[in-house]
Amino acid sequence: MKIFSGIQPTGALHIGNYLGMLKQSVELQKEGGCIYCVVDLHAMTIPYDPKQMQKNILDVTVCYLAAGIDPAKSILFIQSKVPEHTELAWILNTVTPISDLMRMTQYKDKSNQFKEEIGAGLLNYPVLMAADILLYKTQVVPVGKDQEQHVELARTIARKFNKKFGQTFIEPKVKLAKEGAKIMSLTNPKKKMSKSIPAGCLYLFDEPEVIRKKIMSSVTDLEKQVKYDLIKKPGISNLLTIYSLFSGKPIKDIEKKFKDQGYAKFKEKLADLLIKELEPLRKKRKELLSRQVYIEEILEQGARKAKTIAQETMAEVKKKTGLI
Ligand code: AMP
Ligand code: TRP
Repeated sequence: MKIFSGIQPTGALHIGNYLGMLKQSVELQKEGGCIYCVVDLHAMTIPYDPKQMQKNILDVTVCYLAAGIDPAKSILFIQSKVPEHTELAWILNTVTPISDLMRMTQYKDKSNQFKEEIGAGLLNYPVLMAADILLYKTQVVPVGKDQEQHVELARTIARKFNKKFGQTFIEPKVKLAKEGAKIMSLTNPKKKMSKSIPAGCLYLFDEPEVIRKKIMSSVTDLEKQVKYDLIKKPGISNLLTIYSLFSGKPIKDIEKKFKDQGYAKFKEKLADLLIKELEPLRKKRKELLSRQVYIEEILEQGARKAKTIAQETMAEVKKKTGLI
């Protein structure tokens, strides 16, 4: 099975990234053929500080490894180290309808958020993402719900290319987590947890006292019953989802356990659970941060392996498009 996914080096990862993408990516390693990428070129499409980029790349790499991505099983590398990504993106640009790019939700949201600071790179973002995926003839793309539309567009682009130049690319399928594909913000449970609204995020490496504080003050409702109801109780439903995914217990059982105990007790137990479950990740991160040479070696080796596959695909693409 060929599996590909990426994370942008745009700051600390939160439990939404973990439950929506990382956890499935770790599980998929048993299928073999996984390629995971730190997509630095994507991170340039919104305003950023170049001085922070290298640190952010290292942080995301450490996150992948701390979460359980195993470099002996999977390829882990930095996007810009394999220039074939941008080369293929240019070619795919020529078959991508502009109207499809303009209707992407993420483009609309982010261009609204950053207004005139936005360049053409934000509009073309999904084309680069399609290149990332198609370059490795990927079959499955594990991501959160917010990326579903982009994977769908990658399928369209593959189809258009194949029609014009002959069968080359596989149409990739999105893989969403059964639960957890859209973890909501702790401060506004009607919005997704997002790096762009830090107050609503529970970060993977938050210290225990921070975890407790964020969970205890998370927004719920004026009722008392711990019950899953997405419409009437989005806050409690989100906390129940998080509890269920970190404990491995079904939501029904958790509802029963906290039936008449009120929100404070439920939140307290959820904080305990999160502190305990995130502890190994925090530990692993600390250990990895002191092994920078080892991490650089992993990334270098990953780039070398990725490049071999990418070059093969590019040779085929160039032949089909008349460039050689
Ligand atoms: P990003 O940090 O935007 O590169 O996202 C990395 C991965 O996390 C992508 O697969 C996203 O779809 C996923 N993701 C981001 N936010 C959430 C969320 N709130 N719930 C579930 N998955 C998410
Ligand atoms: N767009 C994705 C995000 O913001 C990151 C990404 C870039 C990606 N290229 C990818 C995800 C290829 C999956 C496959 O989260």
